[in-house]
Amino acid sequence: MTEQHENPAAMKKRICDRLDALGQSHITAHLEQLTEAEQLGMLRQIDELDLSVLDPECADEQRGRFEPLYATTLAEIDRNRERFTKTGLEAIRAGKVGAVLLAGGQGTRLGFDHPKGMFNMGVTRKLYIFECLINNLLRVTEQAGAYVPLFIMTSVENHDETTAFFAEHNYFGYSKAHIRFFRQEQLPTVDPDGKLMLMSRGVVATAPNGNGGWYASMENTGILHELRNSAIEWLNVFAVDNVLQSIADPCFIGAVIESGHVSGAKVVAKAAPDEKVGVLCLEDGRPSIVEYFEMTDEMRTKREPDGTLSYRFGVILNYLFRTDQLEETLACKLPLHKAFKKIRYMGADGKPVKPEEPNAFKFETLALDLVKLQKNCLAYEVEREKEFAPVKNKTGVDSVDTARELLRRCGTEL
Ligand code: UTP
Repeated sequence: MTEQHENPAAMKKRICDRLDALGQSHITAHLEQLTEAEQLGMLRQIDELDLSVLDPECADEQRGRFEPLYATTLAEIDRNRERFTKTGLEAIRAGKVGAVLLAGGQGTRLGFDHPKGMFNMGVTRKLYIFECLINNLLRVTEQAGAYVPLFIMTSVENHDETTAFFAEHNYFGYSKAHIRFFRQEQLPTVDPDGKLMLMSRGVVATAPNGNGGWYASMENTGILHELRNSAIEWLNVFAVDNVLQSIADPCFIGAVIESGHVSGAKVVAKAAPDEKVGVLCLEDGRPSIVEYFEMTDEMRTKREPDGTLSYRFGVILNYLFRTDQLEETLACKLPLHKAFKKIRYMGADGKPVKPEEPNAFKFETLALDLVKLQKNCLAYEVEREKEFAPVKNKTGVDSVDTARELLRRCGTEL
């Protein structure tokens, strides 16, 4: 960060020394080709970036000892549905519940050139992903007779388009006064050799810093300040790309509150032992998520005496967190995960390149790492066919086609 009263020459020296030490001399060389004004712009951009991601020490974290974590099953939930729902609705009516839509992703697999929420799921009519989500939330707010404050996380890249889209569509019938947008931070991106890339002349290529930083971004954008003076005690965090996403589900909220747990996660039973889904479990005694590629064969196939898989419950990026516990996470640095993605950059000829295949690494914090910082987490089973229709790819698994089919089966006309 800029030191007080630092003159431009001193700033340049400080930043160039750091870049050189991190093996990024091509950027210092690029700086030399810029005008003074361009140099200052680039130096300011770099100064704002967290360059610690370039440090080789900053690798993926070591994992601990995993054990299965048992879920509140569909049958148990059914037996208590009325009571849980009543508790959840009371919390919503008392203004204790807010919802956070994570919509800062780049959606590179879908390959849609706009925010993913703007994708039209309709066939004979328009039905945008954002609209599906708001419709789902409206069902709850109508039942409760109260709005749930909705916080929408965007990125630098998609913020303006997202906010304009909501305004143009009159917030899809939701109360504008109950929607707040906030931007997440960016991190540098690197090529496969670990070198920073240029986005354009005098600009380093960056990407959104992953979906784990949402609470910190709410802090950095001043939203938490307001939240602390509100009645909100719980935040339901969810991904943009599940069109069957059940948001601020009163039964889920009630079950977590009544269990006395400080967080909850919606989970679905795995379709097969090798389904590619992160599984909620215990890691060194704390709630955690083990990614499918981290699971050993033994873990993948281990079964309970009743024949069910021990590591059975996959997460669907729908969590409930108690805000007082999230406050404590603000002081923690979440691990950074490297993801190989399609990142636009400036080619050697100075022209912009839009890669067709993944070409560079971005650094991401993940919402699932926030779960690990909680004392406990209630795994809450939901029916996949009713609540999980992810739109990740253009075709094939978890694609627009599969999500459309699931929407139709749930009675949505497309
Ligand atoms: P994904 O992990 O699927 O990433 O996001 P993505 O960037 O949207 O898509 P791909 O991998 O490039 O195809 C899961 C959820 O987290 C949000 C996404 O918007 C989605 O709701 N997310 C992801 C963010 O809000 N910010 C990020 O930096 C990354």
